[in-house]
Amino acid sequence: MEYEREFVMIKPNSVRRGIIGEIITRLEKRELKITALKLKNITENEAEELYKEHEGKAFYEELIDFIKSGPVILMIVEGPRAIDMVRHIIGVADPLKSSPGSIRGEYGLTVGKNIVHASDSPVSAERELKIFFNEEEIIEYKLNTQKDL
Ligand code: PPS
Repeated sequence: MEYEREFVMIKPNSVRRGIIGEIITRLEKRELKITALKLKNITENEAEELYKEHEGKAFYEELIDFIKSGPVILMIVEGPRAIDMVRHIIGVADPLKSSPGSIRGEYGLTVGKNIVHASDSPVSAERELKIFFNEEEIIEYKLNTQKDL
């Protein structure tokens, strides 16, 4: 099974709502390992770099303004098939179409403020995590999974 690094960002509306812990708990429950984590007000340049594939779309300016509207939580999450697993736990982009048990399906209302971002492939995860983290900030340790206990 492919061991992967996934980039996850808890969006400003979720930080303001005080649901950081609930989101992180859902990732931890699936035995994903957090190897980097920070609270940050992201800059214009960082926001533009993160969302460069959407430049020119009708919602682009709104998306950039929203993501800079307050602090976000930035994380690297690792594990077997971490990218698909995280995206499964989060749900699809539109909360209305996300399954009720997913994070967006439970906390989200609109596609523009869909609670949390996660990279959609190993290539985009590596690109996106490098915008915010250098290798020294990524901490390796052993996770005690249920299998170990
Ligand atoms: S697309 O065009 O199909 O790639 O769009 P989608 O996958 O639905 O969404 C990509 C990201 O753009 C954000 N988005 C919006 N922001 C503000 N306003 C509107 N209307 C809007 N529509 C989409 C959406 O939250 C996605 O962000 P991430 O961080 O990738 O989840």
